[in-house]
Amino acid sequence: MPFYSEKVLDHFKHPRNVGEIENADGTGEVGNPVCGDMMTFYVKIKDNKIEDVKFKTFGCGAAIAVSSMVSEMAKGKTLEEAMKLTNEMVAQELGGLPPNKLHCSNLGADALHKAIENYLTKQNK
Ligand code: FES
Repeated sequence: MPFYSEKVLDHFKHPRNVGEIENADGTGEVGNPVCGDMMTFYVKIKDNKIEDVKFKTFGCGAAIAVSSMVSEMAKGKTLEEAMKLTNEMVAQELGGLPPNKLHCSNLGADALHKAIENYLTKQNK
């Protein structure tokens, strides 16, 4: 497979942090308007840090690799740091994505940010 980096293939074949967090502090769901694929992120927050993060992705291999990478990059980060993660950073960390699959990297950081925003909204109640 010449188009995918080793890292993408590794995260696709062995995705980290797949699943759901029961009683998550925040959840965020996004859909990709290009292909209709869906991604949901769950976060557990402690002391302003992402203590745990899991995801469920109904999407292509690149989207699964992206979710897995986002979850690894986010774990242990403060909320502020996690909010600064961008889709570009994730694609870069994966060693790049083929141009026609770049839209797949658009979901990951967005879903994570939504989950954090969901947590913050609940806190403000
Ligand atoms: Fe839909 Fe990749 S084809 S996220």
